[in-house]
Amino acid sequence: MTNSWTTGGDLAASYTEHSKDLRGALRHALVTRALAHHLPARPQRILDIGGGSGIQARALAARGHHLTVLDPDPAMLTRAEHAWAARSEDTPGTLRLLHGRGEDAPRLAGTGWDAVLCHGVLMYLEDPAPLVEALAACTRPGGTLSILAKSAEAMAMRPALERRWADARRALTDRTETGRLGAVSRGTPRAALQDWLAEHRVNVTAWYGVRCFTDHLGEEPAGADFAEILDLEWEAGCRSPYRDIARLFHLIAHREQ
Ligand SMILES: C[S@@+](CC[C@H](N)C(=O)[O-])C[C@H]1O[C@@H](n2cnc3c(N)ncnc32)[C@H](O)[C@@H]1O
Repeated sequence: MTNSWTTGGDLAASYTEHSKDLRGALRHALVTRALAHHLPARPQRILDIGGGSGIQARALAARGHHLTVLDPDPAMLTRAEHAWAARSEDTPGTLRLLHGRGEDAPRLAGTGWDAVLCHGVLMYLEDPAPLVEALAACTRPGGTLSILAKSAEAMAMRPALERRWADARRALTDRTETGRLGAVSRGTPRAALQDWLAEHRVNVTAWYGVRCFTDHLGEEPAGADFAEILDLEWEAGCRSPYRDIARLFHLIAHREQ
């Protein structure tokens, strides 16, 4: 099965750059905010599958959680290692890095995790089913699963707002596109993902839209109004119909006891 991240060349550098602009910064901050809301305050053992350069892992370790990042891209793991070493603040949590594919997570990282994260990964996989199965298998009964995916239902929004009319029309029916990193990526139908998870006794308990109003703003840097935009995106991402047209959706789910 094709994995367009691992066949797409050196995406680590472009991803790191994009994470700093307004759209990237909002994505990470909105996911961090939702996790702060849903994860218990007491330290959790958290497995971040496809955790890449560790942006979310560092944010959670700063709150006292113990993180393991599993990722198949050595360049992303090197970035995670360097960023962890260079952090300035005193971090109460811990970070461990593991090399490997998410599909092999139960064997490589073990099972019984309090929480499992998988953010921005499903979109690169031609067949996400083996990864979804691994995510469920790694989560302990009662544990939390957090998935961020590209919304199949809202794929026409970005090209339409960028006045790329032909692309927008195609995106109404075609879930595959070449994203801003230059790799082929796919939208995931939210209801289908919810059904796949239920087959593994994992039930969605909340969901958010990520980037309802700002997804068409190109490489615009985050500015002085970042906090104001973040609050607006958060409030809109919590409610329909705004969250339904967001670029990404963030699912919070729990494995049955
Ligand atoms: C867009 S980055 C997201 C990184 C991180 N989750 C974040 O939100 O910042 C996609 C990540 O998925 C990883 N990836 C690609 N295929 C994977 C797979 N089969 N299993 C686990 N991770 C994978 C890539 O190596 C890359 O680090």
